Order: sequence, then structure tokens, then C-alpha cells
Amino acid sequence: MLKKLSLAAVAALTLSGGAAVAAGGAGHVDDVAFSFEGPFGTFDQNQLQRGLKVYTQVCSSCHGMKYVPLRTLSDEGGPHLPVDQVRAYAENFEVFDEDLGDYRPAKPTDHFPESMDPNAPDLSLMAKARAGFHGPYGTGLSQLFRGMGGPEYITALLTGYTGEDKMEAGTLFYENTAFPGGWISMAPPLYGEDVDFDDGAPNDMQSEAEDVAAFMMWAAEPKMMARQHAGFVGVLFLSVLTVLLYLTNKRLWAPIKGKKSV
Ligand code: HEC
Repeated sequence: MLKKLSLAAVAALTLSGGAAVAAGGAGHVDDVAFSFEGPFGTFDQNQLQRGLKVYTQVCSSCHGMKYVPLRTLSDEGGPHLPVDQVRAYAENFEVFDEDLGDYRPAKPTDHFPESMDPNAPDLSLMAKARAGFHGPYGTGLSQLFRGMGGPEYITALLTGYTGEDKMEAGTLFYENTAFPGGWISMAPPLYGEDVDFDDGAPNDMQSEAEDVAAFMMWAAEPKMMARQHAGFVGVLFLSVLTVLLYLTNKRLWAPIKGKKSV
């Protein structure tokens, strides 16, 4: 896991970000060694629970996640919360019930709410909608081992504020070294120590940003682990099959090829 003092991170991003923005229009994004990367990667259940807490206490006041069903919070391989805890969590949200014609507390079968702030994009698929790395596509090797950089981009965005802001056409913009163009209308949501984690994990800005980014990755692709493992087993199976077919082929042709004189 990338561990840095948040101040140092901001300083480093500030120094290098300007050049990156000027060069390609895309911002500066650092790699993070997330647990779910690579063919054997798995989501870190505790990290997902911490990320859920950051999302709930900080981001959800503006951003919704309307494509994610609340019940999936109890899924194995995901945050894996006990079912009664998910039920209690769901009740914090109000949803409009068509049959009742009124609002009622959400149930696990409902989805996370929509964005409260109409300008704040829905975060359900954000980790897959952004790419932090723009490596060579040909081999796909970079993507296999580092991913597309969606969660890295979110981490860099949340820690990339320089402290500068400017007013333009009645909107306040904040300078951010990860955001393409360099100025974003989202006020810095994290400062460090914004939430207390039940598992005693560090809650500096970088750690909080990584945790919520990991949570966004799970939200966007809850079955990633199953997909990666199935892919790996598939490749392994095809390799074994290749060897067997090669040997079969040799054997079948042996009488014809091997004894030319006959
Ligand atoms: C006060 C409201 C508010 C809060 C709180 C907030 N955001 Fe935002 N967020 C916004 C707005 C508004 C935008 C659109 C900014 C723009 O396009 O200039 C945005 C944009 C984003 C984007 C998209 C950036 C892009 O590339 O287009 C991400 C990712 C994001 N927010 C993540 C988060 C996370 C994670 C949190 C919690 C740690 C959070 N936000 C908290 C208002 C908020």
C-alpha cells in the first residue's frame, strides 16, 4: 500500500502535476498497490468496510450510488456485513415507495439513493468510468497487473488539491492536480481524520482516499474476483488442453509420419 504523509503527497503532486496537466490534459495519478489487482487479487473486506464508512459519512451528502443494491453489502468477497447490520444501515435512507405513494425507510432490497447534489455524478460506476493509466493497449500487460487505474485516479483526485481556488462564472473551482484541466468544482471532501475506523486503521487523508477508492471499485465491479479467477482457470485449462492435443496429434500421425519406408 502506498503510504505517504498527506502533506508530502500534496506537495509532490503539486510539483509534478502542473507539467502533467500541460503535457496531455490528463492529471497526475500515482500507482497504488491495491489488494484486488493482478490475477490473484482479492478485495480486502476491512478496507471495503472502511471505504463504506467514508462514503456514508462524507461523500453521500452529495453523491449517490443508485445502481448498487444495498443487499450486496453482505456479499461474500465484498464488504460482507452481517445481514442485520445491512438492514439497519438501509434504514438510514428514505426511498419513495410507488405502492404506498409515500416515503419509507429503505430495505436491503432497495438501492443506494441518487445523488443529493444534482452536479455531483453518481459514483456507482465511477471507478470504471475513469482511467488513471493510459499505457500501451497492445499487450494489455500493464492493465493485467496494474488495472486501468480507476481507483488510483479517485485516490489521486481526493488527495490532489493544491489549496488554490478561483471564482469563474459564479462557480468556485478548486485546483486539483489529478482532475483533467486542473480545476474542479468539488470542494476538497477529505482532510484526514474525517472518520474514525472501527478496526483502528490509519485515517490520514491518503488512507481514507485509498479506502473509499477501493470501495468504489467493488461497487463498480463486485464480481471482479470471480471474473479474474475464472479467466485464470480458463487460461490454465487451455494450456493443458494444448499439450494434450499436441500429444494426441503426434500419436495419431505417428504410423504415417514416423515410418515413411512402410
Ligand atoms: C459538497 C458536495 C460533494 C462532496 C461531499 C463530495 N463530492 Fe465529489 N463531486 C462533487 C461535485 C459537484 C462534482 C463534479 C465536479 C466537476 O465536474 O467539476 C464531484 C465530482 C466527483 C468525482 C468525479 C471527478 C471526475 O473525474 O469527473 C469523483 C470521483 C468524486 N466526486 C468523488 C467523491 C468522493 C469519493 C467523495 C467523498 C470522499 C466526494 N466526491 C465528496 C461534489 C461533492
